[in-house]
Amino acid sequence: MSKPRLFSGIQPSSDSLHLGNYLGALVQWRAMQNDYDAFFCIVDLHALTNAAHDPKSLPAATRGLAAQYLACGIEPGKSTLYVQSHVPAHTELTWILNTITGFGEASRMTQFKDKSQRFGTENQTVGLFDYPVLMAADILLYQADVVPVGDDQTQHVELTRNLAERFNSRFGEVFTVPKLQTPEEGARIYDLQEPTSKMSKSAASDAGLIWLLDEPSVTRKKIMRAVTDTGSEVRFDRGEKPGVSNLLEIYTAITGQTVAAAEAEFAGRGYGDFKRAVADAVVAELEPVRTRTLELLDDPAELDRLLAVGAEHAAEVAAGTLKAVYDAVGLLPRR
Ligand code: TYM
Repeated sequence: MSKPRLFSGIQPSSDSLHLGNYLGALVQWRAMQNDYDAFFCIVDLHALTNAAHDPKSLPAATRGLAAQYLACGIEPGKSTLYVQSHVPAHTELTWILNTITGFGEASRMTQFKDKSQRFGTENQTVGLFDYPVLMAADILLYQADVVPVGDDQTQHVELTRNLAERFNSRFGEVFTVPKLQTPEEGARIYDLQEPTSKMSKSAASDAGLIWLLDEPSVTRKKIMRAVTDTGSEVRFDRGEKPGVSNLLEIYTAITGQTVAAAEAEFAGRGYGDFKRAVADAVVAELEPVRTRTLELLDDPAELDRLLAVGAEHAAEVAAGTLKAVYDAVGLLPRR
């Protein structure tokens, strides 16, 4: 029997991934690639919708993300690794899906809604508005069974499922309706300085983010300076102790321990000892990733070659779906 299909992607919107991307996405990807026919995309077209998009830094960020996927353990022999803009079917399917997406339903997508509320709808682009539809096209093009992501992508995967079901009921069964998969630990990592906000590339300050490519000494310092809570007890309680709870989540996601075991380990030991242990665990996990990424970046031609192989395979699979979609909606086949 053939393996079920998996699709996921990350935007090349900074030079380095952060710990949230790593624990929310890459750790699950690495584990799942043995049991799934996996497609891991670098979603560069999505990155164009960021206000901070810089054409000069995008090529390096794209290659850098490929290197980080590989350094985190994505194996090109097992999985398909490629760049979204190298497979034009993504934008072609987006157009078709646009024609069945409600204006209201797209307006309710949190990213567009939040940015509209903060900066005014007038200042948003059609690209940002359409972002979730492009994401649905990414997933549906490969007939993915499962989409492993952090929990901030839940609404997008829900829209994808709705569009697949709507298309299938209007035009015939073309799409697999995909399932969301979030990790048990690490589905939402919070900012170290503001532990009630998600760790995010767009944070105002760098001090709350752990970048995969930070020097180990910087990572250590950021964890030792992480905001903790009043009291001295290491106990998981999101309401009362968001800072400590976030560090516990990071610690257990990396060590594989249960929260109860971690609480017992640090009982009566205070925050200093606890933070040192978290820093040791994070540095031990990320240092090899950083070293390997830097090695891979020494050979950009090899990275480009791997991405070309991935794009070729992805384009073949995507073409099959796009053909079925065009036929289903009644576009005259080209001779
Ligand atoms: P992006 O690039 O913002 O994030 C990439 C992945 O990292 C996860 N993530 C987190 N997980 C835990 N804690 C956090 N603080 C945290 N921050 C980010 C995200 O959930 C995601 O899994 N729209 C997507 C990219 C995309 C995509 C797709 C994903 C485009 N097409 C198709 C899956 C399938 C995004 O912006 O992710």
